[in-house]
Amino acid sequence: MTDMIKTNDTAGQAVRLPRHIAIIMDGNGRWATRRGLPRTAGHKAGAETFRRIATYCKNIGIQYLTVYAFSTENWKRSADEVGAIMALLKKYLLEAVDTMERDHIRLHFLGDMSPISPELRALARETDEITEHLSIDDFQANVCLNYGGRDEILRAVRQFAADCAAGERTPEELDDALFSSYLDTRGIPDPDLIIRPSGELRLSNFLLWQCAYSEFYFTDALWPDFDEAELDRAIAAYQKRDRRFGGVKK
Ligand code: IPE
Ligand code: IPE
Ligand code: MG
Repeated sequence: MTDMIKTNDTAGQAVRLPRHIAIIMDGNGRWATRRGLPRTAGHKAGAETFRRIATYCKNIGIQYLTVYAFSTENWKRSADEVGAIMALLKKYLLEAVDTMERDHIRLHFLGDMSPISPELRALARETDEITEHLSIDDFQANVCLNYGGRDEILRAVRQFAADCAAGERTPEELDDALFSSYLDTRGIPDPDLIIRPSGELRLSNFLLWQCAYSEFYFTDALWPDFDEAELDRAIAAYQKRDRRFGGVKK
Protein backbone atom coordinates (compact mmCIF):
# COMPACT_ATOMS: atom_id res chain seq x y z
CA MET A 1 0.00 0.00 0.00
CA THR A 2 2.74 2.44 0.93
CA ASP A 3 4.39 1.96 -2.46
CA MET A 4 1.15 2.99 -4.05
CA ILE A 5 1.07 6.18 -1.98
CA LYS A 6 4.58 7.16 -2.85
CA THR A 7 4.39 6.55 -6.62
CA ASN A 8 5.01 9.40 -9.01
CA ASP A 9 2.23 11.44 -10.54
CA THR A 10 1.72 11.69 -14.32
CA ALA A 11 4.20 14.57 -14.58
CA GLY A 12 6.79 12.27 -13.03
CA GLN A 13 7.00 14.31 -9.85
CA ALA A 14 7.25 12.63 -6.47
CA VAL A 15 3.80 12.93 -4.89
CA ARG A 16 4.08 14.51 -1.49
CA LEU A 17 2.81 12.86 1.64
CA PRO A 18 1.01 15.12 4.08
CA ARG A 19 3.50 16.09 6.77
CA HIS A 20 0.80 16.43 9.39
CA ILE A 21 -2.46 14.44 9.48
CA ALA A 22 -5.17 15.24 12.03
CA ILE A 23 -8.06 12.89 12.77
CA ILE A 24 -11.37 13.38 14.59
CA MET A 25 -11.73 9.88 16.04
CA ASP A 26 -15.53 9.73 15.83
CA GLY A 27 -18.10 6.93 15.68
CA ASN A 28 -17.04 4.72 18.60
CA GLY A 29 -20.46 4.86 20.25
CA ARG A 30 -22.40 3.99 17.09
CA TRP A 31 -19.98 1.16 16.31
CA ALA A 32 -20.71 -0.40 19.70
CA THR A 33 -24.47 0.24 19.63
CA ARG A 34 -24.75 -1.48 16.23
CA ARG A 35 -23.17 -4.56 17.80
CA GLY A 36 -25.43 -4.49 20.85
CA LEU A 37 -22.43 -3.54 23.01
CA PRO A 38 -22.06 -0.74 25.56
CA ARG A 39 -20.60 2.51 24.18
CA THR A 40 -17.47 1.95 26.25
CA ALA A 41 -16.69 -1.13 24.12
CA GLY A 42 -16.56 1.25 21.15
CA HIS A 43 -14.02 3.45 22.92
CA LYS A 44 -11.89 0.40 23.64
CA ALA A 45 -11.99 -0.62 19.97
CA GLY A 46 -11.28 2.99 18.97
CA ALA A 47 -8.18 3.07 21.17
CA GLU A 48 -6.89 -0.01 19.30
CA THR A 49 -7.52 1.74 15.99
CA PHE A 50 -5.49 4.71 17.21
CA ARG A 51 -2.58 2.42 18.05
CA ARG A 52 -2.77 0.77 14.64
CA ILE A 53 -3.11 3.98 12.63
CA ALA A 54 -0.34 5.75 14.58
CA THR A 55 2.02 2.85 13.83
CA TYR A 56 1.03 2.95 10.16
CA CYS A 57 1.56 6.73 9.95
CA LYS A 58 4.99 6.36 11.48
CA ASN A 59 5.90 3.52 9.10
CA ILE A 60 4.91 5.37 5.94
CA GLY A 61 6.78 8.51 6.96
CA ILE A 62 4.11 10.90 8.24
CA GLN A 63 5.80 13.27 10.67
CA TYR A 64 2.87 14.40 12.83
CA LEU A 65 -0.43 12.72 13.69
CA THR A 66 -2.88 14.69 15.83
CA VAL A 67 -5.98 12.94 17.14
CA TYR A 68 -9.06 14.34 18.83
CA ALA A 69 -9.63 12.06 21.83
CA PHE A 70 -11.82 14.11 24.18
CA SER A 71 -13.32 17.54 23.59
CA THR A 72 -14.15 20.35 26.02
CA GLU A 73 -17.80 19.44 25.29
CA ASN A 74 -17.45 15.69 25.94
CA TRP A 75 -17.87 16.23 29.72
CA LYS A 76 -21.61 16.37 28.93
CA ARG A 77 -21.57 12.56 28.68
CA SER A 78 -22.34 10.18 31.54
CA ALA A 79 -19.78 9.82 34.32
CA ASP A 80 -19.45 6.14 33.35
CA GLU A 81 -18.54 6.96 29.77
CA VAL A 82 -16.12 9.76 30.74
CA GLY A 83 -14.52 7.47 33.33
CA ALA A 84 -14.08 4.67 30.79
CA ILE A 85 -12.40 7.03 28.31
CA MET A 86 -10.03 8.35 31.01
CA ALA A 87 -9.20 4.78 32.09
CA LEU A 88 -8.33 3.86 28.50
CA LEU A 89 -6.10 6.91 28.24
CA LYS A 90 -4.32 5.92 31.44
CA LYS A 91 -3.75 2.39 30.13
CA TYR A 92 -2.39 3.74 26.86
CA LEU A 93 -0.13 6.25 28.62
CA LEU A 94 1.33 3.62 30.92
CA GLU A 95 2.24 1.54 27.88
CA ALA A 96 3.56 4.56 26.02
CA VAL A 97 5.91 5.51 28.86
CA ASP A 98 7.46 2.05 28.53
CA THR A 99 7.68 1.87 24.76
CA MET A 100 7.95 5.35 23.19
CA GLU A 101 11.70 5.65 23.61
CA ARG A 102 12.28 2.23 22.07
CA ASP A 103 9.87 2.92 19.18
CA HIS A 104 10.98 6.53 18.65
CA ILE A 105 7.49 7.94 19.14
CA ARG A 106 7.16 11.44 20.54
CA LEU A 107 3.89 11.83 22.43
CA HIS A 108 2.40 15.17 23.33
CA PHE A 109 -0.94 16.33 24.74
CA LEU A 110 -2.92 19.31 23.50
CA GLY A 111 -5.73 20.86 25.53
CA ASP A 112 -6.39 22.24 28.98
CA MET A 113 -5.05 19.58 31.32
CA SER A 114 -6.13 21.40 34.50
CA PRO A 115 -9.39 19.43 35.05
CA ILE A 116 -7.73 16.11 34.20
CA SER A 117 -6.90 13.76 37.11
CA PRO A 118 -3.51 14.36 38.78
CA GLU A 119 -2.52 10.80 37.88
CA LEU A 120 -3.12 11.30 34.15
CA ARG A 121 -1.47 14.73 34.28
CA ALA A 122 1.64 13.23 35.85
CA LEU A 123 1.76 10.56 33.14
CA ALA A 124 1.39 13.21 30.44
CA ARG A 125 4.27 15.14 32.00
CA GLU A 126 6.32 11.97 31.92
CA THR A 127 5.64 11.40 28.22
CA ASP A 128 6.59 15.04 27.56
CA GLU A 129 9.91 14.50 29.33
CA ILE A 130 10.64 11.37 27.29
CA THR A 131 9.63 13.26 24.13
CA GLU A 132 12.21 15.95 24.97
CA HIS A 133 14.95 13.32 24.76
CA LEU A 134 13.86 12.05 21.36
CA SER A 135 14.91 13.60 18.07
CA ILE A 136 12.71 16.35 16.60
CA ASP A 137 12.73 14.24 13.40
CA ASP A 138 11.05 11.31 15.15
CA PHE A 139 7.36 10.70 14.50
CA GLN A 140 5.14 12.75 16.83
CA ALA A 141 1.64 11.82 17.97
CA ASN A 142 -0.43 14.60 19.55
CA VAL A 143 -3.46 13.62 21.59
CA CYS A 144 -6.12 16.28 22.10
CA LEU A 145 -7.54 15.85 25.58
CA ASN A 146 -10.05 18.27 27.05
CA TYR A 147 -9.31 20.17 23.86
CA GLY A 148 -11.53 22.74 22.17
CA GLY A 149 -10.41 25.11 19.44
CA ARG A 150 -12.26 28.03 21.03
CA ASP A 151 -10.92 27.23 24.47
CA GLU A 152 -7.38 27.05 23.07
CA ILE A 153 -7.80 30.45 21.40
CA LEU A 154 -9.27 31.99 24.58
CA ARG A 155 -6.41 30.66 26.71
CA ALA A 156 -3.91 32.08 24.21
CA VAL A 157 -5.62 35.49 24.18
CA ARG A 158 -5.73 35.58 27.98
CA GLN A 159 -2.01 34.81 28.18
CA PHE A 160 -1.14 37.38 25.51
CA ALA A 161 -3.21 40.03 27.31
CA ALA A 162 -1.48 39.17 30.58
CA ASP A 163 1.93 39.47 28.88
CA CYS A 164 0.91 42.89 27.53
CA ALA A 165 -0.28 44.00 30.98
CA ALA A 166 3.08 42.87 32.39
CA GLY A 167 4.88 44.99 29.78
CA GLU A 168 6.44 41.95 28.08
CA ARG A 169 4.47 42.30 24.85
CA THR A 170 2.75 45.07 22.91
CA PRO A 171 -0.52 44.64 20.95
CA GLU A 172 1.18 45.96 17.79
CA GLU A 173 3.63 43.07 17.60
CA LEU A 174 0.91 40.42 17.42
CA ASP A 175 0.98 38.61 14.09
CA ASP A 176 0.19 35.09 12.81
CA ALA A 177 3.43 33.58 14.01
CA LEU A 178 3.39 35.21 17.43
CA PHE A 179 -0.24 34.23 18.03
CA SER A 180 0.51 30.64 16.95
CA SER A 181 3.25 30.52 19.58
CA TYR A 182 0.60 31.04 22.28
CA LEU A 183 -1.44 28.04 21.13
CA ASP A 184 -1.14 24.45 22.38
CA THR A 185 0.21 23.54 18.92
CA ARG A 186 3.22 25.88 19.20
CA GLY A 187 6.11 24.49 17.17
CA ILE A 188 3.88 22.05 15.28
CA PRO A 189 3.10 22.80 11.61
CA ASP A 190 -0.58 23.25 10.70
CA PRO A 191 -2.33 20.02 9.63
CA ASP A 192 -2.16 19.37 5.89
CA LEU A 193 -5.02 16.89 6.00
CA ILE A 194 -7.92 16.63 8.46
CA ILE A 195 -9.90 13.38 8.41
CA ARG A 196 -13.30 12.85 10.00
CA PRO A 197 -14.79 9.37 9.95
CA SER A 198 -18.38 8.43 10.94
CA GLY A 199 -20.18 10.47 8.27
CA GLU A 200 -20.40 13.72 10.25
CA LEU A 201 -19.53 16.79 8.20
CA ARG A 202 -18.35 19.21 10.88
CA LEU A 203 -15.26 20.14 12.87
CA SER A 204 -16.82 20.00 16.36
CA ASN A 205 -14.36 22.61 17.69
CA PHE A 206 -11.20 20.90 16.37
CA LEU A 207 -8.10 22.96 15.46
CA LEU A 208 -10.10 26.04 14.47
CA TRP A 209 -7.08 28.33 14.01
CA GLN A 210 -4.80 25.69 12.51
CA CYS A 211 -7.24 24.40 9.85
CA ALA A 212 -7.18 27.62 7.81
CA TYR A 213 -5.64 25.89 4.76
CA SER A 214 -6.04 22.21 5.66
CA GLU A 215 -7.53 19.78 3.17
CA PHE A 216 -10.58 17.93 4.51
CA TYR A 217 -11.50 14.29 3.99
CA PHE A 218 -14.74 12.74 5.22
CA THR A 219 -15.64 9.06 5.26
CA ASP A 220 -18.66 7.10 6.51
CA ALA A 221 -16.46 4.45 8.16
CA LEU A 222 -16.80 4.48 11.94
CA TRP A 223 -13.50 5.05 13.75
CA PRO A 224 -13.14 1.47 15.11
CA ASP A 225 -13.50 0.21 11.50
CA PHE A 226 -11.01 2.75 10.10
CA ASP A 227 -7.94 0.90 8.81
CA GLU A 228 -4.78 1.32 6.76
CA ALA A 229 -6.73 1.09 3.48
CA GLU A 230 -9.00 3.95 4.64
CA LEU A 231 -5.95 6.06 5.43
CA ASP A 232 -4.44 5.23 2.05
CA ARG A 233 -7.67 6.45 0.39
CA ALA A 234 -7.58 9.69 2.38
CA ILE A 235 -3.94 10.29 1.44
CA ALA A 236 -4.63 9.48 -2.21
CA ALA A 237 -7.49 12.02 -2.21
CA TYR A 238 -5.20 14.58 -0.58
CA GLN A 239 -2.58 14.03 -3.26
CA LYS A 240 -5.11 14.96 -5.94
CA ARG A 241 -5.95 18.27 -4.29
CA ASP A 242 -4.61 21.50 -5.69
CA ARG A 243 -3.44 23.56 -2.72
CA ARG A 244 -3.22 27.20 -3.73
CA PHE A 245 -3.14 29.03 -0.40
CA GLY A 246 -4.89 31.96 -2.00
CA GLY A 247 -2.45 32.18 -4.90
CA VAL A 248 -2.85 31.36 -8.58
CA LYS A 249 -1.71 28.09 -10.07
CA LYS A 250 1.47 28.50 -12.14
C1 IPE B 1 -15.75 9.49 19.48
O1 IPE B 1 -16.80 8.60 19.36
C2 IPE B 1 -15.06 9.45 20.82
C3 IPE B 1 -15.35 10.61 21.67
C4 IPE B 1 -16.04 11.65 21.32
C5 IPE B 1 -14.81 10.59 23.02
P1 IPE B 1 -18.24 8.93 19.91
O2 IPE B 1 -18.33 8.47 21.30
O3 IPE B 1 -18.57 10.37 19.69
O4 IPE B 1 -19.11 8.01 18.97
P2 IPE B 1 -20.53 8.37 18.34
O5 IPE B 1 -20.37 9.64 17.58
O6 IPE B 1 -21.48 8.52 19.49
O7 IPE B 1 -20.84 7.20 17.47
C1 IPE C 1 -15.80 15.14 18.35
O1 IPE C 1 -16.77 14.15 18.34
C2 IPE C 1 -14.87 14.94 19.51
C3 IPE C 1 -14.05 13.74 19.46
C4 IPE C 1 -14.02 12.85 18.51
C5 IPE C 1 -13.17 13.56 20.58
P1 IPE C 1 -18.20 14.35 19.03
O2 IPE C 1 -18.92 13.08 18.87
O3 IPE C 1 -18.03 14.88 20.40
O4 IPE C 1 -18.82 15.50 18.13
P2 IPE C 1 -20.35 15.88 17.84
O5 IPE C 1 -21.04 16.00 19.17
O6 IPE C 1 -20.93 14.78 17.00
O7 IPE C 1 -20.27 17.17 17.08
MG1 MG D 1 -19.41 11.34 18.13
